[in-house]
Amino acid sequence: NKKTTLLTLQKKYQEKAPISMITAYDYPTGLAANNSTVDTVLVGDSLAMTCLGYSSTHQLSLDTMIHHCAAVSRALSHPFLIADLPFGSYNCSNSQAINSAIAIVQKGQAECVKLEGGSSIIIERINNIVKAAGIPVCAHIGLTPQYSSSLGGFKVQGKTLKQAQSLFDQALALQNAGVSLIVLEAVPEIVGKAITRILEIPTIGIGAGRFTSGQVLVISDIVDINNSTAAPKFVKKYASLGKAYSDAINQYAQDVSQRIYPDPSAHNYAIPQKNEDEIK
Ligand code: KIV
Ligand code: NA
Repeated sequence: NKKTTLLTLQKKYQEKAPISMITAYDYPTGLAANNSTVDTVLVGDSLAMTCLGYSSTHQLSLDTMIHHCAAVSRALSHPFLIADLPFGSYNCSNSQAINSAIAIVQKGQAECVKLEGGSSIIIERINNIVKAAGIPVCAHIGLTPQYSSSLGGFKVQGKTLKQAQSLFDQALALQNAGVSLIVLEAVPEIVGKAITRILEIPTIGIGAGRFTSGQVLVISDIVDINNSTAAPKFVKKYASLGKAYSDAINQYAQDVSQRIYPDPSAHNYAIPQKNEDEIK
C-alpha cells in the first residue's frame, strides 16, 4: 500500500471515491488498520471511554492522547494519521491551541489534528493552527461529544431547519478557515447530503447517511471489543472480538486448572538426556 497523504484524500474526493476512516488507540489496533486498505486512522478522544474506561471524553489529557497517538503511529506505514485535540487543550487561547497541535504532531507523530465545534472562537483557533503551524485540521460538527453537557446529552443534531442552517453556516465558515476535512456526526441523511453538496472539501460522516464524502466508525464498536450491550444506531458490527477474547481467556484458565496446559509434547523446552539424568 502506498502512503496516504492529504493529496491522496483530495484526489479521492475529486473522483467521488468514498474515503474510509477508522479509530485506533494503541499499537495492536494500529497494526490491524495498517494491514487493511483503510485510508485514514483517527486517534479519537473516544479513547477515553472505549480504551481507558473513563465515563466521558472530558477526562482525557493531552499527554495521554500523545502517548496513545505515538503508539498508533509506530504501527502505521500507509494510512493518514489524525489525532483529536482533547477537551481543554485548545479552548483557552489561540496559543494554547497552537502549542497543543504542535505537541501532538511533534511527540505523537500525527499528520493532522481534529477539533470539535464551529463557533467563531473555534474558527479562530483553527485559523491559528493552520496559518501559524501549517498543521492540517479536521473539523467536527453535529454531535460533538466534548460539548455534550451544553447539547443536553448525546442527541441527533440538525433535525430542525434552524439547527440545519446553523450547521451549514458552521461548515462554510470552517471551510473558509482552511480545514481540510469535516466530520459530521449524528445528523439526518438529508443534512449530511446538503452540507456535502455545498462544500469543496470532503465530509466524513458518522451517523450522517450515505452521501458524505467518507465514513468513520469507532474501532471498538465495529469489532465489539468491549462486549457492549448498547451501541449507537449508526454502528455496524463486523466482529465479536470481546466474546472471542473472553472465550480464549476462559479456555486458557480451564486448561491450567485441569493441567491440560502446558502439554509436554508441544510447550516444553528439552535438554539432552544426559543433563536430564544428572539433574534427576
Ligand atoms: O473520538 C472519536 O472517535 C471521534 C469519531 C467518532 C469521529 O471523534
Ligand atoms: Na472525538
